[in-house]
Amino acid sequence: MNAEERNAAMDEWEAARQAVAEAEDKYDAAPDDEEVDAFVNLSDAKERLWQIEQRFSECRLPWPCTGDSGTRTGDNGGNGGEDAMKTQLVLSLFPGLDLLGRAFEETGFCVVRGPDVIFGGDIRGWHVPGGRFDGVIGGPPCQCFSSLANIVRHNGGEPKFGNLIPEFERIVAEAAPRWFLMEEVPRAPLPAVPAYAAWSCLLNNRQLGEAQNRVRRWTFGVPGPRRKVLMIETVALENPNFEYAAVGGHGGSLARADKRRIGRPGSVREFRHNSSCLGHNTKSGWAFRELKRQQGLPEEFALPGWTVVGKCQAVGNAVPMAMGRALAKAVREATEETEA
Ligand SMILES: C[S@@+](CC[C@H](N)C(=O)[O-])C[C@H]1O[C@@H](n2cnc3c(N)ncnc32)[C@H](O)[C@@H]1O
Repeated sequence: MNAEERNAAMDEWEAARQAVAEAEDKYDAAPDDEEVDAFVNLSDAKERLWQIEQRFSECRLPWPCTGDSGTRTGDNGGNGGEDAMKTQLVLSLFPGLDLLGRAFEETGFCVVRGPDVIFGGDIRGWHVPGGRFDGVIGGPPCQCFSSLANIVRHNGGEPKFGNLIPEFERIVAEAAPRWFLMEEVPRAPLPAVPAYAAWSCLLNNRQLGEAQNRVRRWTFGVPGPRRKVLMIETVALENPNFEYAAVGGHGGSLARADKRRIGRPGSVREFRHNSSCLGHNTKSGWAFRELKRQQGLPEEFALPGWTVVGKCQAVGNAVPMAMGRALAKAVREATEETEA
């Protein structure tokens, strides 16, 4: 594929993304009697975008990254050897339990963590030095973009955290890393960092062979004008078992909302699993064990001193281990290619 064809493919992807954004706006604004049509249009637009993104992955498009990689190969501990070259220093923002960071550690990265409110920190007003980190990763709180936010607002509440994507963007701009990776729910806006080009895709945990249905938007940014695509390895056959997304520690209204799923793909048993992790049921230790299993954590994973509700919230908010591993591997391959 030559440069012209690559640019045409990128334009096609951009147009499909734009179509999804417009369809989302129309769906949000649709009066009741047009809601179904708007939903069908939105699903079609997402399907088209999905097909294009799948084509990128299947073709393993050699996406160019013409930006200055700012590579610091060998600048690690002074030995300058091959091992040093492979150990990238990564800053993890909004870490929570940092299952995402753990997956990066397993994949050979060295991860340090920024502040999180659950440990008494706050990213607002926090600063980092420039040029020290190879990568910045993080999943800003998603509550205000999630479709469940409307249910919370309908019940007179407000999502717990506001939009903190601008804080993610601010820290990336300060850190000036060779790459960044952001995780969010599909409806969240993409991060925009001056002088970086960002590529994004939707990934369902089920595409990795897992039972849990959990779709997330991943955005990968590199310095310079050209985006770089991540080649995320997915399975050929989905898991025959289906489980709804693990969430923890929300109110009873969400448990009620989830009942609408009865009779849709999945079984009553699966529904019970899911509801066990919602609302009042998060007080049971069994719910925590189920969440750990769904998120790919080992049985012995413990959070001594935490309430069960707190444990369920933190594990439910985290990136499933399988997804974290797939992304970490893709980032590693993409950034090592740049170094070669
Ligand atoms: C989606 S979770 C991140 C999960 C994490 N990526 C993982 O894989 O485990 C978002 C985190 O942002 C944290 N958070 C919310 N407001 C924050 C703030 N102002 N400063 C720092 N962290 C904040 C929440 O406590 C929560 O742990």
